[in-house]
Amino acid sequence: MSLQDLKIKTFEEYQYQYQKSVNQPELFWDEIASHFTWKKKWNKVLSWDFEKLDVKWFEGATLNITENIFERNLPTLKDTPAIIWEPNSTDTENKTLTYQELYEAVNQCANALKALGVGKGDRVCIYLPMVSELAISVLACARIGAVHSVVFAGFSATSLSDRIIDAEAKLVITADGLRRGAKTVALKEVVDEAVKNTPSVEKVLVLNVLNENIQFNPSLDVKWEEIVPQQSTECTAEEMSSEDYLFILYTSGSTGKPKGVVHTCGGYMVYTAYSFTNVYQYTPGDIHWCTADIGWITGHSYIIYGPLLSGATTVMFEGIPTYPDAGRFWEIVEKYKVNQFLTAPTAIRSLMAFGEEPVEKYNLSSLKVIGTVGEPINEEAWHWYAKHVGKDVCPVVDNWWQTETGGIMISGIGNLSPQKPTFAGYPLPGIQPVLLNQSGEEIQEHEVEGYLCVKFPWPSMIRTTYGDHQRCIDTYFSNYKGYYFTGDGAKRDADGMYRIIGRIDDVINVSGHRFGTAEIENAINEDPQIIESAVVGYPHPIKGQSIYAFVVSDHPIDKQDEARKSILETVTNIIGKIALPEKIQFVSGLPKTRSGKIMRRILRKVAEGEIESLGDTSTLLDPSVVEEIVKNRI
Ligand code: PRX
Repeated sequence: MSLQDLKIKTFEEYQYQYQKSVNQPELFWDEIASHFTWKKKWNKVLSWDFEKLDVKWFEGATLNITENIFERNLPTLKDTPAIIWEPNSTDTENKTLTYQELYEAVNQCANALKALGVGKGDRVCIYLPMVSELAISVLACARIGAVHSVVFAGFSATSLSDRIIDAEAKLVITADGLRRGAKTVALKEVVDEAVKNTPSVEKVLVLNVLNENIQFNPSLDVKWEEIVPQQSTECTAEEMSSEDYLFILYTSGSTGKPKGVVHTCGGYMVYTAYSFTNVYQYTPGDIHWCTADIGWITGHSYIIYGPLLSGATTVMFEGIPTYPDAGRFWEIVEKYKVNQFLTAPTAIRSLMAFGEEPVEKYNLSSLKVIGTVGEPINEEAWHWYAKHVGKDVCPVVDNWWQTETGGIMISGIGNLSPQKPTFAGYPLPGIQPVLLNQSGEEIQEHEVEGYLCVKFPWPSMIRTTYGDHQRCIDTYFSNYKGYYFTGDGAKRDADGMYRIIGRIDDVINVSGHRFGTAEIENAINEDPQIIESAVVGYPHPIKGQSIYAFVVSDHPIDKQDEARKSILETVTNIIGKIALPEKIQFVSGLPKTRSGKIMRRILRKVAEGEIESLGDTSTLLDPSVVEEIVKNRI
């Protein structure tokens, strides 16, 4: 059975399938899952309990996700490109791996992992640039049943180390360095620093990307070139239970350190392929390009798993949208005749700033569907994208989802569904979103706003947070009993379409990257001159949101520039450059209630420049701090 049979072809069919998925969810998913290759079929489609967070899909079934990518597709797609890798620089040669070549490369890497002592259930931390070996490493882990934990290669040594320790990773896969635009970053140095205090790490597998002379530690380091290419190109796929862990991906929440979101083999496979085929209306032969980094969930689901399960050709781009110039994305679309293109609003907005010339210069007529993901898209960016990239003929599919949801939840389906600028639209079949009011009751009406929750399980949903199940329950399933709480606020219009407003918790979305305010505050507070800080997000024309930090020092700061520089260095060292506050204001105190709680609402207003509507400040311990904060705001 072909996954193409899963493709919905009309809006009426979508409505029919949606109703079926609500009325008979088990039958609905049973039929969809039957299109995949399983070693053993399930006894039960679904069992679930949101209170204990015990959700099982396709229980009793066994499979290997890579067999569904390779063994299943090879008979027809052996010589079809699986990955087209486009380098950072136009001077470097690109690379294409056919399904057969990728299969062999994955098997070699899988055998190397085994030779390094990695087995089923072991965690492997992957800290690599956007080179094809990143996708190969991910799939090699899946092949042998090791659990991959990809860490975005912009995170600092401390962040990397935290993630390695939390996952108790046995192996780290990295490279000497990475290229990003005109810059290079010495990745291996970051890893050397990170693994100083990670007792679980037995080996570090190092890929040569830059030909840099790296410091080589013979007791730990193994060169990729010296172990991978020698391996056999055959490797039997490990038989995995449907609920065995496939991967961990760390993401930020309102409190504490980033959590390791766990996804499992069976459900994740079914849902990423199903959502990919439908949202992008994938047709065999289509070239799919998602510009995300594989360090984030979008790259996992819609560069690697969704497209490759479906037999698509997926483009992997090493670089950035503005290097060597602002036409780079469009040049690549023209070069590979990309049919489906997916990027983030922040990229669209940054390219808009360069005007129309760079985009009008290229032939984009191959595009059929264009997508946006990661943050709310504003009206202006939506129209620019639809007009200049989609030429007013491609549907814009606005994909709302999260690391925790594993796959797209609310989105247009190709050109089938009605589209409304800035609205993600309708839920995909199998997804039952609801809006709750402040008392946690479901709002039934249309033309309302509320807290976005999901009331029924779906196959690719989060199963746990690694090593701390209770934390997962507390974070997502306790605010509103019986619901998965997304952390987002949303609007539902008269037609039942959803528009995501943004986070209603203490999570900031900067250029589509998620950070918890507490995480950034903790980093700032590590700076020796800072005793306390409060961080809020405020609207930014390109990044969507930016970070505003209010900081309290234990001594008068006379050289503010120097102090700011030091704070920025501290945040860079602890989290990474991607989390830098844009504005840092020194304050003598933070607005706190008598019980000691920081009133972020006030700080948010100050950061947004809405100082006329600060609201009631009478409950503050010391209302005068607000006056000072307002007076000196940046
Ligand atoms: O606030 C929502 C926003 O990004 C958050 C999830 O971030 P992350 O787990 O990093 O995953 C990003 C890629 C799936 C959500 O809680 N978000 C994601 N997509 C959209 C969005 N906000 C509005 N519209 C979207 N299409």
